Parts: sequence; structure tokens; C-alpha cells
Amino acid sequence: MKITVSEGINKTYAQSLCMAFFHGIKFPQRDEKNEDGLELSVNAYKKDDKIYCSATLKTSDDIVQKEVLYHPNELETEQRAMKTAVGQAIYNACRQITKRDIEWGILTGIRPSKVCAELLNAYSVEQTYGILIEKYLLSPEKARLAIAVTQNESLIMDRTNDNRCSIYISIPFCPSRCTYCSFISYAGKKLFDLIPAYVDRLIADIKETNSLIKELGLTISCVYIGGGTPTVLNEAQLEAVLSAIYTSLDVLALDEFTLEGGRPDTITEAKLQIAKKYGISRISVNPQTLNDTVLEKIGRRHTVDDFLNAYKKVDESEIDAVNTDLIAGLDGDDFESFKQTVDKIISLSPENITVHTFCVKKSAQILRDDKAIYNKEDKLARDSVNYAYNALVSHGYEPYYMYRQKNTVGNLENVGYSKKGYFGLYNVFMMSDAHTVFGIGAGATTKLVRHEGEKCQILRIFSHKYPYEYLRDDQKTDKQIKGFFDRR
Ligand SMILES: C[S@@+](CC[C@H](N)C(=O)[O-])C[C@H]1O[C@@H](n2cnc3c(N)ncnc32)[C@H](O)[C@@H]1O
Ligand code: SF4
Repeated sequence: MKITVSEGINKTYAQSLCMAFFHGIKFPQRDEKNEDGLELSVNAYKKDDKIYCSATLKTSDDIVQKEVLYHPNELETEQRAMKTAVGQAIYNACRQITKRDIEWGILTGIRPSKVCAELLNAYSVEQTYGILIEKYLLSPEKARLAIAVTQNESLIMDRTNDNRCSIYISIPFCPSRCTYCSFISYAGKKLFDLIPAYVDRLIADIKETNSLIKELGLTISCVYIGGGTPTVLNEAQLEAVLSAIYTSLDVLALDEFTLEGGRPDTITEAKLQIAKKYGISRISVNPQTLNDTVLEKIGRRHTVDDFLNAYKKVDESEIDAVNTDLIAGLDGDDFESFKQTVDKIISLSPENITVHTFCVKKSAQILRDDKAIYNKEDKLARDSVNYAYNALVSHGYEPYYMYRQKNTVGNLENVGYSKKGYFGLYNVFMMSDAHTVFGIGAGATTKLVRHEGEKCQILRIFSHKYPYEYLRDDQKTDKQIKGFFDRR
């Protein structure tokens, strides 16, 4: 698709919105051929306090032009008003050509709750609901979801401030590679041979980071051990990492201490006992789907029974909170099977259930094997996430955490649901830039956060991506981190 915009229009935003309607489209660079023949031109200007915008969309056999006359309200900056007018005009043009609605309307960002929070600060819940539907063109279901998540997020945000922080520890190894995954994670004997050295290095870094946190006078809210699959570590390795954390910091004073088990085929009773002994308060065991045919297709290398057995062990381990991850819209799944998965998981009664929408990630094996997946029918994903919302809410689960990614089937969202009193805190703190997160290990990011009134300053420091680089090179970041906090 070739896009031309007049001055002052954010072209990247126009592209993101078009991508929601036309999956997998490419935007040719100057000398490249415009392969799909789609052409969009957008023109906008301000006159007499109003924004006028027109969007013209041409296909090989059709042309539509949509015009918007937008009256900004007193709270909007000119830039924001321009974006809304442009969004509405492009949306209407794309909608007419594709004959589709996008449930998130003109909101393309990762966190719709950010926009919703601004509205809830200025308007009542009812007014916010109306604005989300009329101005941002959200479906009623998404407007309702955005409001519920925003309200719960704000309760979680009340539990932190700039004097608090969290720690993320990365274990980027997995028993095998799932076809849909593009997370930084490594499977295979050669890489597994690095694990003993990797564990030693992590332990040293955990101690150093904790000393630095003490020096900076910060209080730790959450520790999150994620991956990959952290329970891929054998019992001795897991115990070594957990005991290093236990002896360096006051684990019992943490608000949350998560171990992302993930793959049921890596969870053993002995590992669970170790986790409980060292204070783990939240653990994930993830089925993704309870359909053996789909599990095989996506390369999970475990069965439904393996998940149920692992879940039983986790349930008996007396770890406070259990999370299960599901994916809606998986290739090969159907609505009936997803519905049965949700119903079965609800009957197991985990404290947290996270419903992801299948996301076609560029680096994932599945896309290399089947390019048509981009255009996969999104009705399954829409029906699935709506079913999950209704079933979970009617069983007392509350949506508390949400983010969107590019290239999800149906442009849908990922939502964390929780039983009352069990909100998963780390994910919300991380996603909302609530406080500083120290990342330890290959692929981990340290995110330094400082609030000044309404403004939030962020500095990201990236660790090496690959375990062998992480082992080879001791990145010294203390000076940079202290410099950031000195300016507080
Ligand atoms: C960091 S991954 C690791 C979890 C763990 N290794 C596992 O596979 O069970 C966290 C979650 O992201 C979700 N996820 C990963 N790739 C995805 C994709 N392409 N589309 C949707 N969800 C995805 C899965 O639900 C997964 O459990
Ligand atoms: S989905 Fe989980 S287990 Fe599968 S490759 Fe990705 S991180 Fe590893």
C-alpha cells in the first residue's frame, strides 16, 4: 500500500490503522513496487477551531473518499485532535472497502487502557463508555473491557511509587521450540550445555543487583522469573537460583514472587517443593489449548493429560496463586474446542487465567511455513475472546491487565483475568511503566523509570540477547543506573 499524507499527519499511525484492516500489507520504500496496488492519501488541516480531514483509498477496482469534520474538545491538544480526525477518516474508508469493523476502532496502541485512564480522569464511566464508542469507534464489548481493566489497573498502580522497583530474571531456554513463538528462547543440546555457567552468572548478577538496589534505597515489590521456560532448569539449578534470591533479599516482604513454569512437561513435584520452600507465591503452568491435535500442530510436545497432571501437582504444592495461559485463535483450533478449554480451565479454578490472541510473529516458524496465516479468518478469535470474557466474568474473574500486539488475528488483545484479591502485579507494573524494573540475564531489559508530575522519564538498558554473549561480556551498567537516579 502506498500512503501519502499531508503535513502534520503521523504516517506511522496511518500505517498501523491500515494494517489492522489489511493483514500483512507492506509499505513500499521509494523505489519499490507497490505490489498490492492499494493507495491511500490523507489530507488534514485546521480551520476555525475545527479539524477537516479527507481520506481517499484506491484499490485496483474501487475508490472511496471519506471526510470528517472534527470538533476538538477543551481537553484535547491540536495534535491529538488531528490524530482522531485522521483515524476516523482512514477507518471509514478502510471499513467501506473491506466491509469489516475493527473492534478496537481507531486505537492502535499497545495499551488502550492508557487512553481510557485519561478519559476516566475527566469524565464519568458512562461518558467514557460513550466517548470510546462514538469518538474512538470501539465496539461496546471492547469499551466495557477497557473500562474494567483501567479501573483494576488503577487499584494496582496505587500500590507503587518511584521508591519501589521490581526484578526480572530471564531464563531463555525451552525444552523445544513451539511453532508460533518468537520469544527470545533457545532449545537444543549445544545451548543447554551453557546452562550451568549461565546459572552461575545469574547468581552473581542477582547479588550485585540487589546490592545496587539497596544502595539506591529502593524497595522491591516483585521478582519475576520468566522465559523461555524457567522450570527447564534441573532441581539443583533451580534451587541454586532461588536460594541466591532468598539469601540476598527479603523474599517474604515481596508483594509477589513469580516463577513462570510454563511448559507442563518441565514441572516436577521436587521443583515445586523447592519453589515453595524459597517463597514463590505465583506460578504459571500453561496449556495454551486443551486440544491434543492443536497441541501437536503447534509443536508443544505435551498432551492435555500432561497439563492436567502438572496442574494437579501445582495445585497440591500450596503455592498461593496459579496462572494458566491460553491462546485464542490458534491455527487448527475451532470455537467449540476453545470453549471447552475455557470451561475446563474455569473448573480447575486457577487464581489467574491469561487469554492471549494468536499473534503471527514475523520470526516464528509458523509464518515461514504458511504465509496465508496472515489472512486467516478472524471470526474464530473474536468469538473466542468474547466467550472467554463472558465465561470468566460470570465465574467471578476480573480483567485486570491488557495489552495489544501487532499482527494478532482479528487485531485483538491479550487479557489477564484474576479472582478477587489475586491480581498479578508484576505484569501491570511492567506494562504501565509504573516503576523501575531491573532485568537480569540474556534478553532481559532494565527499565529505569522516574515520574515528574504528569511526565514519566524512561531509560532502557538492554542486556545481550544471546546467552553466549551474556556469558562472554560482563556489561557494566552501575554508573549509568546511578546517574539516572542521582537526577531524582
Ligand atoms: C513468554 S511466553 C512463555 C511461557 C512458557 N514458555 C510457555 O510456553 O508455556 C508467555 C505466553 O505468551 C503467549 N504467547 C507466546 N507466543 C504467542 C503468540 N505467537 N501468540 C499469542 N500468544 C503467544 C503464550 O500463551 C505463552 O504462554
Ligand atoms: S511458547 Fe514458551 S515453551 Fe514454547 S518456545 Fe516459546 S517460550 Fe518456549
